Amino acid sequence: MSDEIGAEVALAHVGKRFGPITALDDVSLCVAAGEVVAITGHSGSGKSTLLNVIGGLDRPETGRVLLDGDATWERRRDARMRRGLVGFVFQQHLLLPTLTAQANVEVPLVGAGARRTERRRRAAQLLDEVGLADRAHHVPSELSGGERQRVAVARALANDPRLLLADEPTGALDSVTSKRVLDLLLEVRRRRRMTMLLVSYDPTVGSRADRTLTMTDGRLESGAVTAGVT
Ligand SMILES: Nc1ncnc2c1ncn2[C@@H]1O[C@H](COP(=O)(O)OP(=O)(O)OP(=O)(O)O)[C@@H](O)[C@H]1O
Ligand SMILES: [Mg+2]
Repeated sequence: MSDEIGAEVALAHVGKRFGPITALDDVSLCVAAGEVVAITGHSGSGKSTLLNVIGGLDRPETGRVLLDGDATWERRRDARMRRGLVGFVFQQHLLLPTLTAQANVEVPLVGAGARRTERRRRAAQLLDEVGLADRAHHVPSELSGGERQRVAVARALANDPRLLLADEPTGALDSVTSKRVLDLLLEVRRRRRMTMLLVSYDPTVGSRADRTLTMTDGRLESGAVTAGVT
């Protein structure tokens, strides 16, 4: 499969419990390469758990998660990151507070074994891509909330992922900043032709996705199995 297009995501009968809580209840889902899927649902319905098992941050107890036909969660997380398959953006930026924007974006490149000069060049390029070239040498506390989230987007792109997973990426931002970050995410998604799953409460998100899925008590609404037309 071409490196230039997003990964295909398939879940078959995925289940995940946390003690007595069923976070994912027999979830099956197909997302086509390059598709943008919005996920909504009330708090505690399992949205973050769903993204985490897709991205390999968490393991399902039952069922299979396939990225491009491969069972992802059976491999080690760092190996998958090196392969550059998945990029994550969370509600909180999770940047390292003592590192500059540039150094934060370099972190996944260190993990991927890139040399120092190459890391610098790549990180500068990525910060430019998210419109932050002039803020590269500031630490997170010197950046605005929207700028921090832009750095988090640049970091998520560092290993050229083919699947972008965003979990309420604008949840901590005001509505104007939120729209800018969302515009940025959709723009980089389009430019890089990534597949994208986006958890959001923003009512405008649904209209900008190819499909919107709703989670209720760990279950995905029916119809999720059929990939949408992009
Ligand atoms: N590590 C964990 N240990 C125990 N329970 C957990 C854990 N992670 C999630 N849960 C539970 O699983 C359920 C689903 O949680 P999840 O975080 O996926 O919901 P969510 O839809 O993302 O909610 P929110 O909109 O508030 O972020 C919840 O009842 C939650 O309390
Ligand atoms: Mg959540």
